[in-house]
Amino acid sequence: MQNQYYPFINEPLAYPYDFLEPYIDEETMRLHHDKHLQAYIDHLNRLLQEHPGFQKFSLEQLIQSASRFPKQISRPIKNNAGGVYNHRFFFSVMTLPSQGMPSGILLQAVENKFGSFEGFRKLFQKAALDVFGSGYAWLVTERGRLNITTTPNQDCPLQRGQKPILAVDVWEHAYYLKNQNRRTEYLKNWFQVIDWEQVQQYYQDSLCCE
Ligand SMILES: [Fe+2]
Repeated sequence: MQNQYYPFINEPLAYPYDFLEPYIDEETMRLHHDKHLQAYIDHLNRLLQEHPGFQKFSLEQLIQSASRFPKQISRPIKNNAGGVYNHRFFFSVMTLPSQGMPSGILLQAVENKFGSFEGFRKLFQKAALDVFGSGYAWLVTERGRLNITTTPNQDCPLQRGQKPILAVDVWEHAYYLKNQNRRTEYLKNWFQVIDWEQVQQYYQDSLCCE
C-alpha cells in the first residue's frame, strides 16, 4: 500500500518500466509514472503545504471531501488527489503475464451482471471508447453490485460512493506514443495486461465493508 497521507511520495512501480512490453511500451510507462503522476503528487503536496488544515486527511478522504472544502481549493484538491489515486490504481491493476480473465466469485459476479466475460469485455471497451476527451473507465462495486462507469478528467468514483476494482486511463498520454490516436488498439493491448488476481482482491475488499 503506497503512502496515504501528506507528504505524498511517488513510490516506484511494482514492476520494471518495460515489464508490460509489447502491450504497453517502456517510454509511455516511464513518462506516465515519472512525469504525469509525479506532477499530480507535487501539486497536491504544494496545495496541502499551503493549507495545513487539510494535511490530516487521507488521500481517499481528500477525494471524498473535496467538494465541501472552501471554493478556491476544492477543485484543485479534487483534481490532484484524483490524479494521484487514479494513476496509482491504474498502475496497480496491470501485470504480465495476465491471468486472461477473472476467476472464482469475481467471474461469477461478472457473469451474473453481464451475461459472460466476453459480454463484460465488450461493454467495458465501449465505455472506455466513449469517454469524450480525457478520463477513465472503471469497474466498480456499488452496494456490493458490479457496475461499469466512466469519469472525466481526474474525477474518481470514490466521490460517488463507488468502490473501484478496475480502471483504464484513456487520457491520450496513456497511449499516444505507441498507438497515436488509436484508442481501440490501446484498449485491445491493455486487456492483455490486466492483473485479474489484483482485481479479484479489490473486489473482495470492496465486499467486506458493505
Ligand atoms: Fe494518466
